[in-house]
Amino acid sequence: MNSHYFIPDATLQSRPQTFSYEFNGRTFKFTTDVGVFSVGKMDGQTDLLLRNMPPVEGSLLDMGCGYGCIGIALAGAHGLTLTQADVNPRAVELTKKNCAENGVASTVVLSDGFENISGSFHNIVINPPIHAGKQTVYRIYEGAFEHLCPNGNLFVVVHKKHGAESTVCKLDEIFKNCETFYKKKGCFLLRCKKL
Ligand SMILES: C[S@@+](CC[C@H](N)C(=O)[O-])C[C@H]1O[C@@H](n2cnc3c(N)ncnc32)[C@H](O)[C@@H]1O
Repeated sequence: MNSHYFIPDATLQSRPQTFSYEFNGRTFKFTTDVGVFSVGKMDGQTDLLLRNMPPVEGSLLDMGCGYGCIGIALAGAHGLTLTQADVNPRAVELTKKNCAENGVASTVVLSDGFENISGSFHNIVINPPIHAGKQTVYRIYEGAFEHLCPNGNLFVVVHKKHGAESTVCKLDEIFKNCETFYKKKGCFLLRCKKL
């Protein structure tokens, strides 16, 4: 039996846990569960990304959404048109529940990378599934380039110990303009623009 958050496993017994998260003057309520990334609390890297993102507008795709926190917090704060996707069915169900709980509208899609995603977005945000392997993560970055509007932005959070430097190289190869807009304790926040 597997129990990794990036390998869907419907046999894992459900043990939901809920926590509150203050963001932009609002209190969000998130339910998490075993078998989904970061059970019972927001991941520190996710929190760092949310608290240091530049303002975004228009549409947002939250790729690899987990229980949905990034998209829900940003759309709840800035009124974005939100789409969220994850390969893990339990993550997709939690995201739908958390959207309803927080009054945020979202199109939530079960998708392996961009397989079931159509259209283009003004912004895409990814806290990448590092443990799923470089091939999967790089395929997702290439898909992001394909699915951004002209002048659209990709935001990625990655830690030095999970290959921040090789991520910058790969994103530079795809976008030609990968910028580190925030760095703290080995955690890099990256932005690439589709020119
Ligand atoms: C590091 S977690 C981030 C979750 C959430 N965005 C957060 O910050 O809490 C990466 C997410 O990517 C998802 N994932 C893994 N492989 C994927 C794939 N091929 N396509 C889409 N999502 C994938 C995992 O299920 C997981 O929810």
